[in-house]
Amino acid sequence: ADALRIGIAGLGTVGAALVRILQQRSNELAISCGRKIEITAVSARNRNKDRGIDLSGIAWYDDPLDLAANADIDVYVELVGGANGAAETSVRAALARGLHVVTANKALLARYGVELARIAEKNGALLNYEAAVAGGIPVIKALRESLTGNHFSRVYGIMNGTCNYILSRMEKEGLSFDECLKDAQRLGYAEADPSFDIEGNDTAHKLAIMTTLAFGSEIAADDIYLEGITNISIEDIRAANELGYRIKLLGVAQKTETGIEQRVHPTMVPLDSVIAQVDGVTNAVALESDILGELLMVGPGAGGSATASAVLGDITDIAKSRPGAQQVPVLGRPAHLLEPYRRAQ
Ligand code: HSE
Repeated sequence: ADALRIGIAGLGTVGAALVRILQQRSNELAISCGRKIEITAVSARNRNKDRGIDLSGIAWYDDPLDLAANADIDVYVELVGGANGAAETSVRAALARGLHVVTANKALLARYGVELARIAEKNGALLNYEAAVAGGIPVIKALRESLTGNHFSRVYGIMNGTCNYILSRMEKEGLSFDECLKDAQRLGYAEADPSFDIEGNDTAHKLAIMTTLAFGSEIAADDIYLEGITNISIEDIRAANELGYRIKLLGVAQKTETGIEQRVHPTMVPLDSVIAQVDGVTNAVALESDILGELLMVGPGAGGSATASAVLGDITDIAKSRPGAQQVPVLGRPAHLLEPYRRAQ
C-alpha cells in the first residue's frame, strides 16, 4: 500500500515527541499498519529552534493554514492549540480538502466540534481526537466505539493533570500552590495559559466532549457550572483529610429525568475510594452505563509522551483504515442526528 503522508503543525512538547516516535519506530509501525507512515510536512513558529529531532527532507511551512491547505498530505495533525486562530482555520481548511484530521485540541472541539463533525462527514474525512480528553487514556475510543449500544447515566473524572498534580503535591509535600504550578509548567503539563487549567476551563472542555459522546446531544461547553482550584489552600486539604476525604477537581456529567447536568468543581472524595488514590499528573475517567456497568480508567493524562501516544493511536487507526470501510461517526453518531442539548431543570 502507499505510504500515509502526514503533516504536523505544532512542534512543542507533544509535536516533537510525536516526530521522534514516528521516526524511531517507523519500521515496526509499518508492519502494524500494513503501510508506512511518512512525515512529509511540518509547521512551527521558529524554524531554527533545536528540538532534538531530525527534520531534514521534510517540507517546512511557516503557517499551519498554508500547510493544511497546500501540503501534499493525507492526514493533517493539528497540535497548535487554542480554540481560534491558526488551529481553527487550518483544521477547517484540511477538512474542506477532505483530508483526515488528528487533533489534541479540546478547546477547539468544545467550541466548534459539531460544525467540524458535519464538515468531516460531508467530505468523507476522519476526525480523530483521542488526545483531547484525559491524555493517554483511551476514553474517546471507549465512548465512540467499544461501548456502542450502552446507555450512559453518568460520566465523570479527574481530567486535568496540572490540577491533580498541584493538589497532590500541596497535600503530600506541603508546597505552595504557586510552586506546584510552576513545576507543572516546567514539566510541560500546563496549558499555554495555565489559567485554563486552574480555573477549570480545560476540564470543562473535556467534559463537554465526553457529554456529547455519552448522551448523543450537541456539545454545550457553556452550560457547565465551573469552579477551579485557585481558592483551595493547604488548610482546606488538611481539613478534608481529617474528615476522611481528599479534594479532587472533578468534571461530572449526568443524565436526569429532565435533561443533562454538567459541572466542574473541587470535590471531596472518600480517602478509601479508587479515585482518591489517583495522584500527580495521572487522570481517571469513570463511565457508568447500563450494559457494562461501571468502568474506571486510570492513566497518564498530560505531558508530551502520554499525549503523543494518543495522537499516534489516532494516526495508526487512519493508516489501518481502508477506503470504503465503515467509518466511525466523529461524535459517536452522525452530526445531524445529535439531539439538541437539554439542561437539567
Ligand atoms: N493542561 C492539560 C492538563 C494538558 O494538565 O491536563 C492535557 O490536556
